Amino acid sequence: MRQSSLVVVANRLPIDDSVAPDGACEWRRSPGGLVSALHPLLRHTPATWVGWAGGTGPAPALPDVDGVRMHTVALSADDLRDHYEGFANATLWPLYHDSVEQPEYHRRWWEAYQRVNQRFAEATADVAEPGAVVWVQDYHLQLVPGLLRELRPDLRIGFFLHVPFPPPELFMQLPRRAELLRGMLGADLIGFQRSQAAHNFAQLVAKVLEVPATDRRIAVDDRVVRIGAFPVSIDTVEMAALATRPDVVDRAARLRRDLGSPEQVVLSVDRMDYTKGIEQRLKAYSELLADGHVKVRDTVLVQVAVPSRERVGQYQILRERVEREVGRINGEFGRVGEPAIHYLTQPFDRAELAALYRVADVMAVTPLRDGMNLVAKEYVAARVDGTGALLLSEFAGAAAELPQAYLVNPHDLEGLKQGLLAALRGSPDDLGARMRTMRAHLHRHDIRAWARSYLSALDDSGSLLTRLGAAG
Ligand code: ADP
Ligand code: G6P
Repeated sequence: MRQSSLVVVANRLPIDDSVAPDGACEWRRSPGGLVSALHPLLRHTPATWVGWAGGTGPAPALPDVDGVRMHTVALSADDLRDHYEGFANATLWPLYHDSVEQPEYHRRWWEAYQRVNQRFAEATADVAEPGAVVWVQDYHLQLVPGLLRELRPDLRIGFFLHVPFPPPELFMQLPRRAELLRGMLGADLIGFQRSQAAHNFAQLVAKVLEVPATDRRIAVDDRVVRIGAFPVSIDTVEMAALATRPDVVDRAARLRRDLGSPEQVVLSVDRMDYTKGIEQRLKAYSELLADGHVKVRDTVLVQVAVPSRERVGQYQILRERVEREVGRINGEFGRVGEPAIHYLTQPFDRAELAALYRVADVMAVTPLRDGMNLVAKEYVAARVDGTGALLLSEFAGAAAELPQAYLVNPHDLEGLKQGLLAALRGSPDDLGARMRTMRAHLHRHDIRAWARSYLSALDDSGSLLTRLGAAG
């Protein structure tokens, strides 16, 4: 078994299998914030990524991706149902997102979660060289730091949670709350998107485990675990370069023509997820059309909603509701050849996404709760000419960093409508000033800055950073 000095452990590998138009199996980059954040960072680094390739049955052997070794962990059909769709995405995901959907608790799901976490810990122990740095990602794998420390006390272990960490009164619902907290505390450093999350975690640890905890340090057994906020970001340089590529510029111009050359294009790009506020946004848009504030001839909405976690009941219900509403709005307000909403459920490659961002006069990112929301950052990075307006939910982690966006409360329908109108009607000077400030922020706080701050806190020797090339 080849071993690495840096091992990233995430439920999902950066590629998953999909079926090409000719029926062949092809590998493509998986949509989702975690992969978008880590993939550019590790490119051309001799690291190993331990993760699941998206199917069931024996783990496929995958080629290296951009120099990163893919180490696949197999999930059985039961694991998929009870670990991934069950405990991860029908217990923890809704609970961590303000319980916008009701979390479900089942003992069988918890058993699968433990079993799969154990498998990931063992796979990681096999591929980590002595003294390696291991970086465990996200809510699917909260037990891995503790399990891994038992197997390999020589490792330096980091954990990063990409999603929000909920307030104590919500987390306290979890039947196995103490085990989950203890699992995370196996890490040397626990990173969150926001300092509020680190605060929530410290409070819970003090209450549930009765150990001394501040928002920065927790004493557990004979160790000190550090915690803190490390807001994740994107590869801004890559996105800006994509957005200026001549073929992307041409594609954007063509897209605009294909949309009927409207005066303004509003764009939303989401995984089809109930946390993203898609229904609230559609309602706001439909009311603006009904009130006559927005006319289909002048303004179109492009809603990209790539299906996600499709066998989980709440996701199926959401998709049906969204599609019914899109159909209703188009039926009521569209004209022949002029739909009110262009609705797309396909995955796009990065260049196509960049072209869409270029076309969007207003980007509407209005989740009910989101750990960060990288789409918002990608849009800002793609607006190389400094134009465009970002409509952003207060409940996205990105709002703390991008206060120049038009901030809205997506639960407040009236506020959402007003916010969208303000973004559509912003003066070029005001929009330009807002966009400039947001772009300058992202320029300084890109994915490399994120990695630098997290990994330098995790690995004080600094050697890892030098190898990653993230220090420059
Ligand atoms: P989440 O992590 O909840 O999926 P984010 O906004 O943080 O939300 O990240 C979503 C990532 O997935 C972004 O990098 C975005 O570009 C990508 N993405 C979203 N929709 C698509 C799509 N249709 N095709 C390809 N990538 C997508
Ligand atoms: C969010 C989560 C990631 C996850 C992604 C896509 O970004 O934080 O851990 O990979 O959504 O979801 P999926 O269930 O397809 O992996």
